[in-house]
Amino acid sequence: MLDYRSQSFEERVIVALDCDADKALAIANSLAGVASWVKVGMTLYYAQGPSIVEKFKNLGFNVFLDLKFHDIPHQVRGAAASAAAAGADMLTMHACGGADMMKAACEGATEGAEGNGLQVPALLGITVLTSMSADDLRSVGVSRELTDQVSSLAQLAVGSGLDGVVASPMEAAGLRSLLGDDALIVTPGVRPAGSDLGDQTRVATPRAAYDAGASHLVVGRPVVAADNPAAAFEAIAASL
Ligand code: C5P
Repeated sequence: MLDYRSQSFEERVIVALDCDADKALAIANSLAGVASWVKVGMTLYYAQGPSIVEKFKNLGFNVFLDLKFHDIPHQVRGAAASAAAAGADMLTMHACGGADMMKAACEGATEGAEGNGLQVPALLGITVLTSMSADDLRSVGVSRELTDQVSSLAQLAVGSGLDGVVASPMEAAGLRSLLGDDALIVTPGVRPAGSDLGDQTRVATPRAAYDAGASHLVVGRPVVAADNPAAAFEAIAASL
């Protein structure tokens, strides 16, 4: 289990490189030695494959590979093994895939990492996508309150062996008391005071997200779209 408390606030800020590979690598080069983590999402990964993980690892980053697995346990076990073997340090899956799927992911990640002499990645559950409204949830057959669904899936995720969850800063405080101090709570929707919200609506400042109980923050556009990404990252670090 990743002991987040042994790392500084600054070391737990994850930069989401949601851009094409050339730009992602240029930004990563400028952040090497400044930031500790980058996040690779589906768009970049499906274009580039596992080699993109290796490139970021070679620059010294921990890599959060955010592929949000959701399939039968056998498939997810294989996906987690492959991602861990590629060097990913953090992985995601949809908790609504169920306990067996999440347990299979844990086994696969352990096999893939240990078979290659690597550290087992931290595994995170996605509860309810923040893009989904209460109406959207009902339209897929979930009749309970959205917050109840988030809490229930978070407990299922941790109870199935995952290290924690991805959650909005608004949910972080409730999930911290529900899941305990050891769980990872990784929050996107983070915006430095006064910065452009983009399409995020429910945001918190970096300091407020940590205060609410986040273990790690995901910050994308405030760094990636800045004229000087390293300076933008340093400003966030200074605000912590
Ligand atoms: O650019 P921005 O800081 O909004 O990027 C946030 C990152 O976190 C993106 O990679 C986005 O996909 C991810 N994310 C999110 N909201 C969620 C889950 C993930 O914004 N609920």
